[in-house]
Amino acid sequence: MKAVVYRGPHSVSVEDVAEPTIEAPTDAVVRITTTNICGSDLHMYEGRTSVEEGKVLGHENMGVVEEVGPGVTRVKVGDRVSVPFNIACGSCRNCTTGWTSFCTRTNPTEGVDGGAYGYANMGPYAGGQAELLRVPFADFNLLELPEGEEYENDFTMLSDIFPTGWHGVELSGFQPGDRVAVFGGGPVGLMAAHSAMIRGATEVFVVDQQPDRLKLAESIGATPVDFSRGDPAEQLLDATHGIGVDRGVEAVGYQAHDHSGEEHPELVLDNLVRSVRTTGGIGVVGVYVPEDPGARDEGAKEGRIGWQYGQFFTKGQSMGTGQAPVKRYNRQLRDLIIAGRATPSFIVSHELPLTEAVSGYQHFDRRDDGWTKVLLRPAG
Ligand SMILES: NC(=O)c1ccc[n+]([C@@H]2O[C@H](COP(=O)([O-])OP(=O)(O)OC[C@H]3O[C@@H](n4cnc5c(N)ncnc54)[C@H](O)[C@@H]3O)[C@@H](O)[C@H]2O)c1
Ligand SMILES: [Zn+2]
Ligand SMILES: [Zn+2]
Repeated sequence: MKAVVYRGPHSVSVEDVAEPTIEAPTDAVVRITTTNICGSDLHMYEGRTSVEEGKVLGHENMGVVEEVGPGVTRVKVGDRVSVPFNIACGSCRNCTTGWTSFCTRTNPTEGVDGGAYGYANMGPYAGGQAELLRVPFADFNLLELPEGEEYENDFTMLSDIFPTGWHGVELSGFQPGDRVAVFGGGPVGLMAAHSAMIRGATEVFVVDQQPDRLKLAESIGATPVDFSRGDPAEQLLDATHGIGVDRGVEAVGYQAHDHSGEEHPELVLDNLVRSVRTTGGIGVVGVYVPEDPGARDEGAKEGRIGWQYGQFFTKGQSMGTGQAPVKRYNRQLRDLIIAGRATPSFIVSHELPLTEAVSGYQHFDRRDDGWTKVLLRPAG
């Protein structure tokens, strides 16, 4: 079958690889109908992770169940499903308390809990930017979708970024009526903004400098803040009578950069501390890593980032972090889509056959104008 394979920094290729098979009785194999390229894939693409050459990428997957193991009793062949990017066992301490993103059993990597498809340090699992995907613990992990093709571009956001954006808002301690600043107007930031609007925010600001992404934020009723036009924390303080916003969401990650493109891994954390009010909350879903050999700074190479912790403490703020437990939210978010209350497809900019993945990666990596979210279709 055809799959997108990592071949080294700034290099992926579409190659023929072996088809996945049922390896454990609780496995299923899913025929992928839509699989997305994610900002998280770019950390690997840019050579800023330890992902191994030859890995099949892709953790944002949906499709139709092709085959199930003898231990799968709930999910049936032919079911249309969304595949959460987390691979969770369903029975460990973290899974049973809803933290499927920190499953203690699915990732053999020393010191890391939580497995995922096609991702650095997240276990030996192939990704779904391919025709077929093996799904462990299928009964627990797969979310059933209404059959057919309706809402395909909305449902495809359920595997990762819609729940991740929602989780960023949740981690911030959000309450209806709050004012929220989302840093990062990429797909994850736009999903956080969409979530905050649905959940009853008084005002949502989206900070970025890409005009196309700021325009999308505006299209859903958020207030764009262009950091190329001046200090975003000052712009947010000005917009809130000097008080600051109630909640902040970090949707950028460790490759945060200034207007000129120079990386400063502490920049967004500092801006959040400055622009969130005293006792306010910050939800960090942008990825930070314990090792970043590609960092400029010696400390950052070991995951040490000198951010404004002193002011964070003094302001009595709180912060939540980490990978999103997709399963905690995806059922309700699916139903919001079906009810017409959520339309995460508003970010889709490109739908390409899988065979055009290489060009999709190149454009999305350059954040070329209008390349907000790329969907790949293995069936062409
Ligand atoms: N926690 C999770 O479960 C989870 C899941 C998916 C993605 N992520 C992470 O979320 C982050 C965002 O993902 P994405 O797909 O939206 O990626 P993306 O790279 O497309 O978007 C990031 C955006 O941040 C903007 N940006 C850069 N520096 C900035 C700054 N200083 N201030 C404000 N904005 C700035 C960029 O212009 C870009 O538009 C990535 O780190 C990704 O790995 C986390
Ligand atoms: Zn993703
Ligand atoms: Zn588990």
